[in-house]
Amino acid sequence: MKRILFAVVLLLSGTSLLRADEGMWLPSEIILKIKDMQEKGFKLTAEDIYSINNSSLKDAVVHFGGGCTGEIISSEGLLITNHHCGYGQIQQHSSVEHDYLTDGFWAMTREQELPNPGLTVSFLDYMEDVTEQVLKGYKPSMTEEQRSALVAKNIKAIEEKAKEGRKSVSVSVKALYYGNQYYLYVFKVFTDVRLVGAPPSSIGKFGGDTDNWMWPRHTGDFSLFRVYAGADNEPAPYSKDNVPYKPKRFFKINAKGIGEGDFTMVYGFPGRTNEYLFSDAVRYTAYTSNPHKIALRTLRLDAQKREMEKDPAVRIKYASKNANVANAWKKWQGEAKGIIKMRAIENKEEFEAAFTKWSQGKPDYENLVARFKELYGAIEELSLVRDYQSEALNAVELVAFAGRGQRGAERFYKDYHMPIDKECFISLYKAYDKNIADKYKSPYFKEQLAKFGTVEAWADAIFTAEPNMEMAAEIYRNTNKWFMENYAPVLDSVNREITLLYRTYMRGMMEYNKANRGTKVFYPDANSTLRVAYGQVKGYSPSDAVYFTPVSSLDGIIQKDNPEIYDYNIPQALRDLHAAKDYGQWEVNGSVPVAFIATNHTTGGNSGSPVLDAEGNLIGVNFDRVWEGTMSDVVYDPEVCRNISLDIRFALFVIDKLANADHLLEEMEILK
Ligand code: ARG
Ligand code: ASP
Repeated sequence: MKRILFAVVLLLSGTSLLRADEGMWLPSEIILKIKDMQEKGFKLTAEDIYSINNSSLKDAVVHFGGGCTGEIISSEGLLITNHHCGYGQIQQHSSVEHDYLTDGFWAMTREQELPNPGLTVSFLDYMEDVTEQVLKGYKPSMTEEQRSALVAKNIKAIEEKAKEGRKSVSVSVKALYYGNQYYLYVFKVFTDVRLVGAPPSSIGKFGGDTDNWMWPRHTGDFSLFRVYAGADNEPAPYSKDNVPYKPKRFFKINAKGIGEGDFTMVYGFPGRTNEYLFSDAVRYTAYTSNPHKIALRTLRLDAQKREMEKDPAVRIKYASKNANVANAWKKWQGEAKGIIKMRAIENKEEFEAAFTKWSQGKPDYENLVARFKELYGAIEELSLVRDYQSEALNAVELVAFAGRGQRGAERFYKDYHMPIDKECFISLYKAYDKNIADKYKSPYFKEQLAKFGTVEAWADAIFTAEPNMEMAAEIYRNTNKWFMENYAPVLDSVNREITLLYRTYMRGMMEYNKANRGTKVFYPDANSTLRVAYGQVKGYSPSDAVYFTPVSSLDGIIQKDNPEIYDYNIPQALRDLHAAKDYGQWEVNGSVPVAFIATNHTTGGNSGSPVLDAEGNLIGVNFDRVWEGTMSDVVYDPEVCRNISLDIRFALFVIDKLANADHLLEEMEILK
C-alpha cells in the first residue's frame, strides 16, 4: 500500500519544477526527465540512453574496478578512464627500469598491452525495479526486524534467480530512497583488462594536490585500457589467446569542440551522496566531524611533507599515500565551507519546522523531527569517538598493519618510512588524548600513557630500530576492542533506527512537497549504481570580484610550468611542442583545449565517466569537481557546483603528438 503511494508521489515530483541541473537520475526512468533534457538541448530519446531490447548509450559505459567509471571508445574494446583511476595498475607495472608513473606507458602493439590481475570491468546488462518482489509478503503489522528478515530473504531469491544459468555475471539488489524502492542490477564482468597507455604523471597528475579539487585546472587525467574476451566474445580469465572484446556499443568522439552554454551529460557510477540529511547531521559534518578530521590529517600531511622534502626516495614511497590523505583533507574543507556559505543548516531547520507543523495529526510523520533530534543528540559524542578511532588511533601505519595481522609485509615495508609514522603516532595520539573525553578512552590507552609518562616516551618504546610489532598490535587490538564492545553497538543500533526514520521521512518530504506545491527535486542518493546527470558548460564565480571562464588550455599549462616545483614540472617534449606550436589537427585558437567545467551533478565514483554532447558523442572524461562546490554530496548549489572534465581533444593530442600512437587514433571514430 505504502509502496504504491510512494510510486505515485515519485512520479508527480518527477514532473515538478526543478532547480537547475541538480540530480543523478536512474537511466531506466530517464523518460521522466527526457523532456527537460531535450528542452536544454539534448537531441536523443530516452530509449537512446537506456534500452532493454536495443543497444543504447549505456552499453558503452562500464564500472571500472570498484570505484571508478570508464567508457568504450572503439569497436575493439578500447577503454578510457582517468589516470588516477588506473594509477594502481600503472604503479604495479612500474619499476626503476620501467618507471611508467614518471615516463608514461604506450603499448605500440597489442602484444605489448599489459594484463592486470584483479582488475574488473563490468557492463550493465539490465536494471529492473523489483520493489514489489522485495516487499512480497510484507504486512504493515510487521516489526522492523520481521521486515528486514523478509526483505533479505526475498532479495536472496531474486538474486539467485537472476544468476541462474549465466556465468561471469554479478548480480545485486540495491535499496534506493532508504528502502522505499529496490532495484536489481545485472552486470557482465570482464577480468582480462589490459593497460594500453598512460601519459607521464607530469601530465596525468599535472598540478598534483596543489590543483586537486580546483579550477582552473590543467590535468591530463586519462589512461587507456582494453577489454579482452574469449573466442565467443564472452568474459574469460586472462589468456594470451583472448581477443579484444567486440562491444555492443562504443562512443564516437566529438572533436569539433564545445563551448559555454552547450548541453552536456555525464553517464557513470557515482558512489555516495546524502542529499536528504537532517539538519543536525549536516551541522555535525560542517562544525564537528570535518574540522576534527581535517586537523588530524593536517598533522599527517605535515609529517609526510617534512620527510618527503628531505629525500626523493621517501617522496616516491609516500606519493600515493600522500595523495590519498590529501584528497579527502582538501575536499572536507571545501565541503564544510560550502555548507556554511549556503546556510544549508539554517535552511534545513526552517524546512523541518514547516514540516513539523504540516505533519500534526499525521501519525506517520508528526514525531519524526523530534525523534531525529533525540537520536542524533544521543550519538553526537560517540560519532566523534569513532572518527578519532579511524583518523587518529588506526591512522598510524604500524598500528594498523600489526593489528591486522601483518598481511602484505613486503608491500608494506616497501612504502614505509618510520620517522613519518613515529611523528604521526606522537601528534595523533596527543590529539586523541586532548580531544576525546577520558570516559571514552580505553583503560589500556590510559594505562600505557601513565606507564610511559608522555606520548613521546611511549612512541620511543614502539618505534625502535626493529619496530615493536607486539606493542603496535596490542594498541590496535585493545583500543578497537574497547570501541567495538562499548560504543559500536550503541552507534550501530541508533544509526539503524535513523536509517529507518529516513525511509519514512523521504516519503513525508515528497508528500509535503506535493501538498505545498513545492519545487524540490527528488532523486535517489548515489549508491554506486549507474546514473545520468545533465547540465551545461558554464563558468562560475567562486567569490566576490572573481569569475572563472569554463575552458582551460595548453597555454595555461605553460603558464604553470615550473621545473623547480614537482607538481608543475612538465615533460620537455610538451614544452617543445608548445614552442614549435606543433599542435597538428588539435589546435584551437592557437592553443589546445585541456579541461572544462559544467553544471553536471557528480560525486566520487564519477571519475572516468563519459561526458557526452547533445548527440551522445564523447566530448570529455569527468575527473573532479571545483572546491567551492564540493558540498554537492550534501547540498547542491547551482551557482557554484561544477564538475571538471578533461577535454577529449587534449587526450587525442597527447596520444598523437607525445605518444605517437596513431594506431590508437585509427581505431576510434573521431568526428571532426
Ligand atoms: N579529487 C579527485 C577525486 O576525488 C582525485 C584526484 C586524484 N589526485 C590527487 N592529486 N589526489 O577523486
Ligand atoms: N575525483 C572524484 C573521483 O575519483 C570525482 C569527484 O569526487 O568529483 O571519482
